Amino acid sequence: MFARSALRPLTASSRLFSSSASRQTKVTVLGAGGGIGQPLSLLLKCDPLVSSLSLYDIRGAPGVAADVSHVDTASEVNGYAADMLDQALEGTKVVVIPAGVPRKPGMTRDDLFNTNASIVRDLASAVARTAPDAHILVISNPVNSTVPIVAATLEKAGVFDPRRLFGVTTLDVVRAARFLAGITGPGVNPNDTAVTVVGGHSGPTIVPLLSQSSYGKSVKGEAFEKIVYRIQYGGDEVVKAKDGAGSATLSMAYAGAKFTNSLLRGLNGEKGVITPTFVKSPLYEDQGIDFFSSNVELGPNGVEKIFPIGPISPEEQKLLEECLPQLKANIEKGKAFAAQ
Ligand SMILES: NC(=O)c1ccc[n+]([C@@H]2O[C@H](COP(=O)([O-])OP(=O)(O)OC[C@H]3O[C@@H](n4cnc5c(N)ncnc54)[C@H](O)[C@@H]3O)[C@@H](O)[C@H]2O)c1
Repeated sequence: MFARSALRPLTASSRLFSSSASRQTKVTVLGAGGGIGQPLSLLLKCDPLVSSLSLYDIRGAPGVAADVSHVDTASEVNGYAADMLDQALEGTKVVVIPAGVPRKPGMTRDDLFNTNASIVRDLASAVARTAPDAHILVISNPVNSTVPIVAATLEKAGVFDPRRLFGVTTLDVVRAARFLAGITGPGVNPNDTAVTVVGGHSGPTIVPLLSQSSYGKSVKGEAFEKIVYRIQYGGDEVVKAKDGAGSATLSMAYAGAKFTNSLLRGLNGEKGVITPTFVKSPLYEDQGIDFFSSNVELGPNGVEKIFPIGPISPEEQKLLEECLPQLKANIEKGKAFAAQ
């Protein structure tokens, strides 16, 4: 099917995975049977830094595990049924959570709060009980609220370490790079159009800092407004196109696997692994906003260093001012739920 020269292993050619370091890690996916969970499990099976993959869902995880386990990479895969959550988590170093309901057309991420808040809280309790040292990557929406819920749940259990909790905002970063490459001109690779995206993960709380990108800084006026809107509401394009069948799953699985690989590289001691992620952050704490996404260096203990947002344009300052009050409300909503 392919010319011999094209047959390079995925791990060597893909920009999704890098494996310069050698230590391997057990990773657990909670919600592995879902639209994100299935392709995410497949991509994690292909990551050479994952030694053991544990797949859990209230529905269908053993089937996904049986399927994915036939992929010819070294890691072992185990699937766990609904009543086997603690077994799924045993000995795991990294827990990725895409469990919960997705949006339908017309819904905001906040509309998911009622269902997903308790799912995420209960899963966080299980992690606190069974794998208290694990790093937790939250994909379930609304991320601006679910991450504070996980933090408060771990805190109550006496095991919260802010260096080990991450809201996965990578899809916003992936979209920003792709959309910027798209308007920059033919042949421009998204590898070269990376954009730092700060704030949170929903609508106006998503703040792309185009002025810090060599390609992005020349985007002005209407083109600027358009691309910012597209980055903030790219998820709606997918929800609308899927017409009731869910939200982004494939691109999200890609983004989730990419962030997991970055974390694993950091845990393995690779230096200079820096990416935006939503973490407990001092940057806007004085305004009552103690979770924020900005560039974070990942290291052997998780969060190694949180970078300030850096110089931004007046337009971006305006976006940030629109972000902060909404982000604050989302965080407070999560905290209020966890305090019940
Ligand atoms: N962070 C992001 O950028 C981003 C992007 C897209 C979607 N999402 C969110 O990810 C979540 C999942 O989306 P999806 O499209 O995969 O949904 P889905 O409905 O296809 O899958 C969700 C899975 O979670 C499982 N689940 C429900 N309760 C559970 C529990 N208590 N324990 C374990 N598993 C449980 C369900 O059985 C299902 O298999 C949604 O909240 C969605 O909004 C986040």
